[in-house]
Amino acid sequence: MFKPLKSSLPALGSPAPDVPSPLLGGLSPSQFMRRHWQKKPLLIRAAIPGFEPLLSRQQLFDMATDEAVESRLIVRKAQGWTLKQGPLARASLPPLKQPGWTLLVQGVDLHLDAAHALLQRFRFVPDARLDDLMISWASDGGGVGPHFDSYDVFLLQATGQRRWRIGRQKDLSLQPGVPLKILSHFEPEEEHLLNPGDMLYLPPRWAHDGDAVGGDCSTYSIGFRAPQRGGLAGELLQRMADELDDSTLYRDPQQPATANPAAMPAALEAFAADALQRLLAERQSLACALGEVMTEPKPRIWFDEATDAWVPGALRLDRRTRMMYDERHVFINGESFRAGGADARLMRALADQRGLDHRQVGRASTDALALLQDWFEAGWLHRTEPA
Ligand code: SIN
Ligand code: CO
Repeated sequence: MFKPLKSSLPALGSPAPDVPSPLLGGLSPSQFMRRHWQKKPLLIRAAIPGFEPLLSRQQLFDMATDEAVESRLIVRKAQGWTLKQGPLARASLPPLKQPGWTLLVQGVDLHLDAAHALLQRFRFVPDARLDDLMISWASDGGGVGPHFDSYDVFLLQATGQRRWRIGRQKDLSLQPGVPLKILSHFEPEEEHLLNPGDMLYLPPRWAHDGDAVGGDCSTYSIGFRAPQRGGLAGELLQRMADELDDSTLYRDPQQPATANPAAMPAALEAFAADALQRLLAERQSLACALGEVMTEPKPRIWFDEATDAWVPGALRLDRRTRMMYDERHVFINGESFRAGGADARLMRALADQRGLDHRQVGRASTDALALLQDWFEAGWLHRTEPA
């Protein structure tokens, strides 16, 4: 298969695959991926030594008031759990001293450069798998209850303390009549108290329950995504069919008169199978559709068009931009472009490093420059220094 190029600059912010890193408790990314990724949890003490929270409690609460931001308020009381979807006015949050509540804010990396920069440390996992940074704030005893997630997650403690209880739960039955997914019979196997800078990696489906200890507890969840086979197939087929634009009609000149008019004609079934096979035979179309689907911006995300004129120079991708590539194409924010030779090398460097220095831009072909200009004007990338 295709080998990603060796670019002159390392991928932005991500640790080199074979260098041991405190982020992974002294393991190199390669060791971590072999031993833990999708396999078993890893508790990492002081994963980010001297870690400073990326935003204040007030800033997080302010984010939750924004319509463009996905947020939830979860309150645990003697009578049970309540869940409220954002946007959440400050007045709708309980007092800080009230125990047992938590506010969760999704996709913080899309709104805050520092959160986006934190995610870059996890780019030893392909971008196609990285999802977002969720930040939770909890009062004393707050949490979302025992549950499991379908995706890998790194749980980084940012402020205060959280006690995580985790286990390989066999019985995944959920409590009925609760607005959250809460396990009926959680059987924890391990317990860990996390302090600021500590981090816990959990593979998909590991049951976990994290309770804030003593209030002012914030946890950053570095979350991953994985396409679901059926859903992905549907999205790809739709895109490929739109692209193919094949208006060939089913014809049945040999159709005899039938005594069973409701019966599906076998020839029509064969026509349907042939239509799908023709679609799937378009390998380039499949590659484009996959790249477009995987780089599609999240709902509620829009870009601010550039207000200043384009002048070539050093560039960086906007934090909201998703950019990937394969052997023949580059994909950016749901669009695909064919690229080969020096242009492909440049675009791959842009995707891996999430930026280009002025020398790289200086060597760009006219075609590549035209694309960079389009993307600049759309607000998908920015100049790193004023023109
Ligand atoms: C939390 O931060 O309280 C919840 C994170 C999780 O369990 O995935
Ligand atoms: Co979870």
